[in-house]
Amino acid sequence: MAEKLVVANWKMNLNPHQASLLVHRLDQKVTAGRSVEVVLCPPFVDLYPVARDRNPKKFKLGAQNIHHLDEGPFTGEVSPAMLQGLVDFVIVGHSERRRHAHEDDKLIARKVAAAVRHGLVPILCVGDNLFEREHGAARKVVADQVTAGLSLLTAAEIKDTVIAYEPVWAISQGDGRGSYAKPHEVEPMVTHIRQTVEELYGEGAGGEPRVLYGGSVNPDNVTAYLEIAGVDGLLVGGASLNYEQFAAIVAAAQAAVHSK
Ligand code: PGA
Repeated sequence: MAEKLVVANWKMNLNPHQASLLVHRLDQKVTAGRSVEVVLCPPFVDLYPVARDRNPKKFKLGAQNIHHLDEGPFTGEVSPAMLQGLVDFVIVGHSERRRHAHEDDKLIARKVAAAVRHGLVPILCVGDNLFEREHGAARKVVADQVTAGLSLLTAAEIKDTVIAYEPVWAISQGDGRGSYAKPHEVEPMVTHIRQTVEELYGEGAGGEPRVLYGGSVNPDNVTAYLEIAGVDGLLVGGASLNYEQFAAIVAAAQAAVHSK
């Protein structure tokens, strides 16, 4: 397993032509290396062109969401069975889906389990919002999301999961408003997530899932996040749409591994 994982979440951006262009540009800028696994998560409509145009030695693929069932009369939905063979990863429970698509912990647990059942690695997103943070509820909220999100998995399945800590108040702050999460705020939460997994699945389990940080990661702050104990990589939104910025983030992750 690569020592760091860098995931690009393109969100609702780029048509297939633009997606192909971005992959070509990334291919020119990003150097392949075994120390860092890079996963691109385009919108569904772009998955096929990106799969076709990417260099698979450099870029793995992920989806941004899945349905929890395999097939059926669910207009507009995409199931994990349909993604098998096309993607390796799937983002589940992103705060934007929790908020805008009203996904709750129970549904997210079913999606996580559906991903695992189909051999896809779930990237379970958890994170406190500003209100929860200001009212001292952040630790409980995050522990509850981790507990619920993993609740349908066995202990053996935990090691192939990824948990992304994304404080909602720190997402999309790249426009200069500046509520970046400070590394000293992230570190205790990462420890807390691992302790929660340890309590649920027993001794040693806390070290098993890969834990990412996400929220306004950019080339300037990336190294500080990578230095946080227990952080195995990053989930990058806005900066992943800019090939120069994303390539710089991947390069920083490679440098972090090699400087150890
Ligand atoms: P951001 O998004 O890097 O634009 O803050 C991260 C995410 O929401 O996954």
